[in-house]
Amino acid sequence: MENYFKTRRSVRRYSGKPVPTEMLTEMLVEASQAPTTGNMQLYSVVVTRSDHGKTALAPAHFNQPAVTGCDTLLTFCADYNRFVKWCRASNAVPGYDNFQSFMTAVLDTVIVAQQFCTIAEMRGLGTCYMGTTTYNAPMIGQILGLPELVVPVVTVTLGWPEGEAPLSDRLAPEAFVHIEKYNNPDESRVKEFYAAKEARDDSRRFVAENGKETLAQVFTDVRYTRAACEEFSRIYYDYISSKGFKFPVD
Ligand SMILES: Cc1cc2nc3c(=O)[nH]c(=O)nc-3n(C[C@H](O)[C@H](O)[C@H](O)COP(=O)(O)O)c2cc1C
Repeated sequence: MENYFKTRRSVRRYSGKPVPTEMLTEMLVEASQAPTTGNMQLYSVVVTRSDHGKTALAPAHFNQPAVTGCDTLLTFCADYNRFVKWCRASNAVPGYDNFQSFMTAVLDTVIVAQQFCTIAEMRGLGTCYMGTTTYNAPMIGQILGLPELVVPVVTVTLGWPEGEAPLSDRLAPEAFVHIEKYNNPDESRVKEFYAAKEARDDSRRFVAENGKETLAQVFTDVRYTRAACEEFSRIYYDYISSKGFKFPVD
């Protein structure tokens, strides 16, 4: 039998065949069995299945075709709203409006999202993360009606795959596995780690198409520029603060 983990890939094109509601619910329930800090489940998932819902969210994801082409869009949010209300309703005083608590909720959220993706993919469905969620969180929060202490972290597109998505490369284990202690590589060793990636046809094409000298420049100068990272940092930071998490620590 084919090893799912060795051949998994993101799927951005979907066939249009519907995902049964019971199947979606079952997968969400299964995903919720993922580990979660103190069993607090510091997340919520907003499920968008309507055309108008997906169309409304599309600009927040820079109109990536997977958003309107998928069957279901799932916005996974870090959520202390529910837990804090439970504390208050139970004569318990919550202290969770801080950076540590926010990170805890983000970890819970990412873990349940990935668990959901694995479950869906093992059932033959396709998924793709939309990292644009942290870029345009204010727009997403407004559309989804996210209240205090709820912040969108990742979005997942879901549907039955159309065609076969390409299998992407990964670094060899010596690049990311460190035995006992961190083995800090020098730049020439790091260049060796990335040599196979740089030699790929698709990498060479990216470099040529973007008029760059190196693949790394495609990342620094085109895909993830300092200006964009700083702008989206400000937007997300302000949004998280506006939702009641206090940064930095007083
Ligand atoms: C946090 C996160 C954000 C991502 N955002 C996007 C995105 O906005 N658009 C997209 O097409 N793929 C997105 N991806 C998918 C990655 O591009 C993909 O996982 C990576 O290129 C490796 O390819 P593979 O998943 O097919 O192995 C994202 C993945 C992660 C984990």
